[in-house]
Amino acid sequence: MKIAMVGSGYVGLVSGACFADFGHDVVCIDKDQSKIDRLHAGIMPIYEPGLDALVETNVKSGRLTFTTNLAEGIKDAAAIFIAVGTPSRRGDGHADLTFVHAVAREVGEHLANESVIVTKSTVPVGTGDEVERIIRGTGSPHRFAVVSNPEFLREGAAIGDFKRPDRIVIGAEDEFGREVMREVYRPLFLNESPILFTSRRTSELIKYAANAFLATKITFINEMADLCEKVGANVQDVSRGIGMDNRIGSKFLHAGPGYGGSCFPKDTLALLKTAEDYDSPTRIVEAVVKVNDSRKRAMGRKVIDALGGPEAARGKKAALLGLTFKPNTDDMRDSPAIAVAQTLMDGGVAVSAYDPEGMEQARPLLPHVTMCDNAYEAIEDADVVVIVTEWDAFRALDLKRVKELANAPVLVDLRNVYNPDDMRAAGFEYVSVGRS
Ligand code: UDX
Repeated sequence: MKIAMVGSGYVGLVSGACFADFGHDVVCIDKDQSKIDRLHAGIMPIYEPGLDALVETNVKSGRLTFTTNLAEGIKDAAAIFIAVGTPSRRGDGHADLTFVHAVAREVGEHLANESVIVTKSTVPVGTGDEVERIIRGTGSPHRFAVVSNPEFLREGAAIGDFKRPDRIVIGAEDEFGREVMREVYRPLFLNESPILFTSRRTSELIKYAANAFLATKITFINEMADLCEKVGANVQDVSRGIGMDNRIGSKFLHAGPGYGGSCFPKDTLALLKTAEDYDSPTRIVEAVVKVNDSRKRAMGRKVIDALGGPEAARGKKAALLGLTFKPNTDDMRDSPAIAVAQTLMDGGVAVSAYDPEGMEQARPLLPHVTMCDNAYEAIEDADVVVIVTEWDAFRALDLKRVKELANAPVLVDLRNVYNPDDMRAAGFEYVSVGRS
């Protein structure tokens, strides 16, 4: 089966490479000539474990190709995926659908055979209807269906998530659409991944509801962590204790500096906008967005407290370990590290930092932070060491060396990587999240 993937960003490239690996013929299309040139040269536009090898194997086998020519790329495709970005629109937080609509128009104008057009980008409810209207408006004589098929993969675990999903959600309005999508995902049925067919609007909402629910779970446990600190309880045990209840589930209950990344912040905002438009407010999600936003700066103040308060902190130096919004990615979008660094610098604290993959993306966002070549260089002369992102490299720091290099043995662990008793025994003044 031939598949065209329009948009070769995170979702497009990972999905395209995985579909090719399942045996489909996949063309990844992108307007950005330099991105396509780099992909031809085997250079990945993003950091994602295992992606370069997967792309290489499938390019060699001839099942995965790249082009900037949409008309050529969609020719003979039984399914055309739209996987372009839907960023937050400046000013109002609505999802910006400019790219999705532009692709729909171009696809309609160049459609050369019957095909199913699939929105894989995260798009607000009703976008499928609009895509259908746009394509119909181009006067294309070919039979087509517009289907919603949201993607739930996580950065850093994208290939595994794509190949072994908890479920596949398909929103289709007719049998033609459903039939083609069954073919697209046939290799995954063999892995026994459950498939859920719904209406198109329902499928579009499922993606937002899933992300908003997960963001709520994280925010809930973060507030419990604050309460734990006040009452002298341990949030990790609270997570375990509630997570063992199957109705709650153990995942996404790690307390930390607040969620970030390319999806949760933008998708929760977009959901609020949809709810507003339909006059059906989602107050829980509203609260989640507010609580998470204020948490990021609160984490900066936590570090200032560890330095002895605002007065004592002025003129001191903090070393941030990890800058990306989570490990195994180079993505800095809405990373808590940005707010933490900013709050520290606003309080007169000098900041040095190191991240295993995120330095390039972090530099323009944090021009006043001294970027270092490794963790120990960042720690030199620091008055406090802060673990912001739980990269494996920071789970087994040489604590003796940290103590020798730092000005003071103070460690703020915003990801609860270390054991408080061990750290105190090692001579550290140790502050973590929701544990005393
Ligand atoms: C998320 C969804 O998980 C995925 O299904 C969707 O397709 C895209 O958005 P991603 O943004 O890649 O994926 O990362 P994820 O692992 O979900 O983490 C999101 C944020 O939540 C990170 O900032 C992470 O540090 C934070 N988080 C996650 C917590 O603070 N605690 C947790 O228990 C889990």
